[in-house]
Amino acid sequence: MTDPLHVERRGGAAILTIDREARRNALSRDTLLALGRAGRELSADPAVRVIVVTGRGDKAFCAGADLKERQGSTDDDVRAQISLYRTELGPLDRSPKPVVAAINGVAFGGGLELALVCDLRVAAAHAELALPETGLGIIPGAGGTQRLPRVVGEARAKEMILLGRRLSAEEALRWGLVNHVVAEGADLLAETLAYVAPIADGAPVAQAAALAAIDAALEVPLDRGLELERLHYDATLRSADRREALSAFAEKRRPRFTGA
Ligand code: COA
Repeated sequence: MTDPLHVERRGGAAILTIDREARRNALSRDTLLALGRAGRELSADPAVRVIVVTGRGDKAFCAGADLKERQGSTDDDVRAQISLYRTELGPLDRSPKPVVAAINGVAFGGGLELALVCDLRVAAAHAELALPETGLGIIPGAGGTQRLPRVVGEARAKEMILLGRRLSAEEALRWGLVNHVVAEGADLLAETLAYVAPIADGAPVAQAAALAAIDAALEVPLDRGLELERLHYDATLRSADRREALSAFAEKRRPRFTGA
């Protein structure tokens, strides 16, 4: 059986490509397990500064759950699969490294939910984004009902989920669902890597602290969030990179961050 996920390093970037073009990069059980493995390994690797998730080909980033694999599944099989979304996408969701979706085509259902797990989303101009589950008699089961309203607000999330509305890349940009759209004909992966290049200039400890603090902002009351911000700030205070940044400023040079 071929590996459903291709992992490639380019400098400090780790690129995860779902490699199931014939099924429009749908999320089979093996694909989820491979995403979980890669998420765990890469998150713990100090050489990795950013993780990019994309799909093979230009048709689909990911067409969601593998509906062929699901045929013949019992209710309990589907329940087990839904649990896998939580356990296997969790490492990317909680990664201390910035995780970026390079959306190379349709992101439907679990495909959009995978993109929502990422911290940033870059889309090809022809990409389309939708959560069509209610038309299939189910609801989004990989976090879509929770993460989509946090990104686009309640009304727009309900519009997408109840009407099965497909957004173009430009509409998604206007809604804040994607951060950046790459022009027709441009190389999406190269442009995505260029878009996230400033991450390599930042301090890893500070970036991890910022991600954790921002993620907390969506979950806790403001007072608790401000307390968490103080705790995450404290982690940066203790870092060697903070002192290096001060020295570099005084010496009028670029800082050399080590992640310590
Ligand atoms: N699971 C398994 N196989 C899928 C799939 C999925 N989610 N989506 C597409 N495929 C398969 C098709 O069955 C087809 O296989 P075949 O060649 O053996 O017939 C192949 O991928 C190509 O699909 P096709 O529809 O011909 O390609 P397309 O590029 O014209 O359209 C999509 C791609 C993704 C827009 C379309 O296939 C689609 O809408 N798929 C369903 C997506 C969905 O509803 N996902 C939500 C699940 S909750």
